[in-house]
Amino acid sequence: MGGMEFNKIFAAVLVAGIIAMLGGFMAKQLVHPKHLEEAAYKIEETETSAGGATVAAGPEPIMALLAAADVAKGEKVAKACASCHSFNKGGPAGVGPNLWGVVGGPKDHMPGYAYSGALLKAGGPMWTYEELNKFLWKPKAYAPDTKMGFVGLKKAEERAALLAWLRTQADSPKALPTDAEIAKEQADLAPPATEEPDPAAAPAADAKAAEKPAGH
Ligand code: HEC
Repeated sequence: MGGMEFNKIFAAVLVAGIIAMLGGFMAKQLVHPKHLEEAAYKIEETETSAGGATVAAGPEPIMALLAAADVAKGEKVAKACASCHSFNKGGPAGVGPNLWGVVGGPKDHMPGYAYSGALLKAGGPMWTYEELNKFLWKPKAYAPDTKMGFVGLKKAEERAALLAWLRTQADSPKALPTDAEIAKEQADLAPPATEEPDPAAAPAADAKAAEKPAGH
């Protein structure tokens, strides 16, 4: 066997090795995203079909967070509302109504403001913590015809902090929720406890974890 021949064989073996390596790598690439895609599909499925039964499909409960919520943070969160709302007593309407005393008060509470009427059609007649939590999570989901053009506060801690501050913007702040009210809200909003452990839940959890860094 000449030197040339040996080199050729050596090169062939090397190339075969590289191809085998690449093949394995590509197989992983192909299989892995597919597996994630399926998991992501499953999450969406539960979100849309369960209709508020899962945490992802609706707002998380916040009443248990209120007592310990960061009121100063809530005041900062309220800056997102200040382009449309005043909060001070007797403050003027802007795009939206003044919000003094709104927590625990009736819906459409500011006399003379041209409300859409959509808020009164959604849920109960009063702005309880539970109603405010649902409304502020996603105003258009709560009342599709509301004229409040605000996307919502996705984070439970932000809604809790905001409401912990907003309740203080009143002549007589609404009392913090009782243990019974906290339990009722959790029963209303939490996923059903009867849910059976699903073997497919493991890849779904993987996908959720993979989603996290992208911002949730
Ligand atoms: C782009 C303007 C805009 C922003 C931003 C906005 N709102 Fe509103 N808001 C409105 C309008 C308009 C209404 C009246 C809705 C209707 O009548 O359908 C309203 C209504 C409300 C009501 C009901 C008041 C009542 O008297 O029943 C509450 C509570 C409220 N907003 C809270 C907030 C909070 C808290 C934020 C910030 C996290 C916020 N809004 C951000 C425009 C806005």
